[in-house]
Amino acid sequence: MAKLLLGVGAGIAAYKAVELVRQLQQLGHAVRVMMTPRATHFVGPMTFAGITGEMPSIDLFDAVQPVMTHIELSRWADLLILAPATADILGKLAHGLADDLLSTQALAFRGPVLVAAAMNTAMWEHPAVQANVATLQARGVRFILGESGILACGDVGAGRLAEPAAIAAAADRILAPQDLDGVRILVTAGGTIAPIDPVRHIGNPSTGRMGLAIAESARRRGATVTLVACHTAWTQLGEFDLSGVTIARVTTTDELLAAVLPAMGETDVLVAAAAPADYALAAPSPHKLKKTAETLTLTLIPAPDVLAAVGAQRRKDQLLIGFAAETQDHLTHGRDKLHRKHLDAIVINDVGRSDIGFGASANEVVWLARDAEPESLPKADKRQVADWLLDRVAGLWDVRQVPAAAAG
Ligand code: CTP
Repeated sequence: MAKLLLGVGAGIAAYKAVELVRQLQQLGHAVRVMMTPRATHFVGPMTFAGITGEMPSIDLFDAVQPVMTHIELSRWADLLILAPATADILGKLAHGLADDLLSTQALAFRGPVLVAAAMNTAMWEHPAVQANVATLQARGVRFILGESGILACGDVGAGRLAEPAAIAAAADRILAPQDLDGVRILVTAGGTIAPIDPVRHIGNPSTGRMGLAIAESARRRGATVTLVACHTAWTQLGEFDLSGVTIARVTTTDELLAAVLPAMGETDVLVAAAAPADYALAAPSPHKLKKTAETLTLTLIPAPDVLAAVGAQRRKDQLLIGFAAETQDHLTHGRDKLHRKHLDAIVINDVGRSDIGFGASANEVVWLARDAEPESLPKADKRQVADWLLDRVAGLWDVRQVPAAAAG
């Protein structure tokens, strides 16, 4: 969790800053808001107070919150986000002017700054504004722009505020540790299915959210990520920021095997969060089966165990992380899978509960690494679980690198 200071400028898009606060909070960050006095014409301070629990700071000479308290804001924050940032705000920041609370804080702030600019296209393209942008970029200020489109003033072109989700993701990327920089991670997510006929299948309730959160977080932390999204995860793909992630879609466990095995040559870490179907129909019907009054008997044959197949031919310099979906004797079954599939660690989760695991937005897991005591994480949002798991993956990866470096 990071401490974020959001500066809201006077633009039509200021209302979108409200949604931005929500998105940042959902990512687990603490957010405090400051506004220029003119921004209050576009969105009411009370709206921000309602979602942050604190009135935004607006006036430099506010009797209730004296000047020093306002400098505190910039001392408190890990990241400053200016959204929407007007031409005026950019100009002040580029030239070191501080004549209101927002510009004072921006100048006093020593950490990373993310600017989501929003203004009329002609203003954005004006050489004075572009020069200010170049000055700020040269100082390390990051910019995020919305896609070109129709602006509130009717102009068409650049200058629109980026979508709140995109700004939140950019903020998250700036804050994320780059501890997986350059590590090639393959993540499997979701449940595969066993087709019965072209319109029916046997499946499981996995939504893939745990694996998708891992792919999102690994990318954010600098990894090169390939995601093999199994059938039931496809509809959840849009919930996550998977920009920069290579995505392959598979339906059956055979297809999962065909996607994963050849990719292992280019993979450092496999995180097998998928819930593959363990059986397939011996003879799926090519046509829709017609219903009758008779009992229908399906003959199932074992599907490949993808992780066991990877484990059987693993390289020592790779990390293999499995998941164990259990409803009883969790630790015993988890430990058995850890050894049987030649894994480095296994994440044990209880899929018998409805509030965690399959289909839920939260999870509660036990991390069991080889030759180590199990570690438990109490119930948390799957994105937080993903980060917690990747902390451990990064730890194992660092240890793995030491002998190689020493030998070289
Ligand atoms: N797995 C796999 N291929 C399968 C089944 C499972 O690669 N056909 C992987 C999963 O992605 C997970 C681990 O193996 O990382 C354990 O999966 P789980 O469903 O808990 O166990 P199974 O091996 O299927 O054993 P069981 O169903 O008997 O518990």
